[in-house]
Amino acid sequence: MIQKPKGTYDVYGMKGKTINYIEDVLKTLMDKYNYEYFRTPVFESSELFHRGVGATTDIVTKETYDFVDRGDRNMTLRPEGTAGVVRSYIENKMYGSSPVPVKAWYFGPMFRYERPQSGRFREFYQFGVEVFGCDNPAIDAEVISIPVNIYKMLGLKGIKVNINSLGDEESRNNYREALIKHFEPYIDTLCEDCKERFRKNPLRILDCKVDADKECMKNAPKTIDYLNEASKKHFERVKECLDSLGIEYVVNPNVVRGLDYYTHTVFEVEADIKDFGSQNVLCGGGRYNGLVEMVGGPQTSGVGFALGLERLLNALEAEHIELPVRTSVDLYVMPISEDEEAYAMGITQALRLSGFNVEMDVMQRKMSNNFKQADRLNASYVMIIGDEETKTNVMTIKNNKTKEEYKVEVADLVDFFDEMLDEDECTCEDEENCKCHHHED
Ligand code: HAM
Repeated sequence: MIQKPKGTYDVYGMKGKTINYIEDVLKTLMDKYNYEYFRTPVFESSELFHRGVGATTDIVTKETYDFVDRGDRNMTLRPEGTAGVVRSYIENKMYGSSPVPVKAWYFGPMFRYERPQSGRFREFYQFGVEVFGCDNPAIDAEVISIPVNIYKMLGLKGIKVNINSLGDEESRNNYREALIKHFEPYIDTLCEDCKERFRKNPLRILDCKVDADKECMKNAPKTIDYLNEASKKHFERVKECLDSLGIEYVVNPNVVRGLDYYTHTVFEVEADIKDFGSQNVLCGGGRYNGLVEMVGGPQTSGVGFALGLERLLNALEAEHIELPVRTSVDLYVMPISEDEEAYAMGITQALRLSGFNVEMDVMQRKMSNNFKQADRLNASYVMIIGDEETKTNVMTIKNNKTKEEYKVEVADLVDFFDEMLDEDECTCEDEENCKCHHHED
């Protein structure tokens, strides 16, 4: 049997419904924040990620899916969304024509050749935002507020927001020198990768999983102690805005992020849930004021974040949160024999297009099995269509719970269901987020 590739997964059943629900929440929220939907290719030229994500990051050195296409071009399946959106911003000259700031959101599959485990896949979905052309620290706080509000809207409680600052170029350079000075005496004790990182990009030593427990890692200098005045001021203002938004956070100097492009604010939201597992970073992001220029555009500041869908699903499961997805149908239509099938299809389509959730028996079940199927589908009403119904155009309808029976003319069906379904009590627990016919707009 052919199996799915390692580190990937299929979506169906309740998981599909849950993901659809989450996507709706994301879209609605982005509309409220007035961000624009972006979709960029799943593969890009490899050079984009070398320049954009950073040639010395683990993602680029160890984790990309690279291939040479039939035209001999070096291509890479995107490991993250930021580089592609930055390329699109530059290529479509949004710096020239669009009103600033340009605020983008995206949702799609990303690919990293990592060792799969719970919450870590080789194909995974990210939802993210990127904002271009705004230096104001207020927008850093706005970006941090987005995942916090998403988690809140989905009912997730155990989250912890960690923030830090890497500062501007001058601060980062000072920090880099401090790191070199600090690690120099220990260089022989570090792993081979770290020796290479020491030469090329000492900040990346801090991401090392092999050397993580060594003393020299634990007492390495902290970025926050190397911020110049302007960088300190920026960070203070971010915190002030977060306070005003009512967002609780912890300043955590260990958050340095595994991608090269960050300046100033960086943040991660982690799951603060008992026994959640090691992949507990639900989302991460920050400011990247040099990236647009690095990819070939004019100097433009940027800030954004991305959250992993799979880790969000894990967190919802860990907190036993069931999203209010629809698990019933308004009506189940039962043609008694093949002779009534085509007629029943017409009525089913008309009611679906009028806004009802309708399922019709296409398995030509016996009546008794059809009633069992109606119960399985959690149908509110059933409609039985036999010879008499097709001749008179008067339908026989039963309330599937009370078993009360009604005779309704075809022309009156929409009004009938509008009224009857409205009278039913909503049994949803979370009325505010409910998607059933009582609460749908
Ligand atoms: P990142 O921290 O590499 O940042 O990824 C963001 C999120 O994607 C992670 O917090 C995690 O939830 C999810 N994620 C990453 N790798 C995997 C994986 N192998 N399996 C499942 N989930 C995963 C970025 O990608 C940046 N582009 C974020 C950003 C946007 N910064 C500025 N703008």
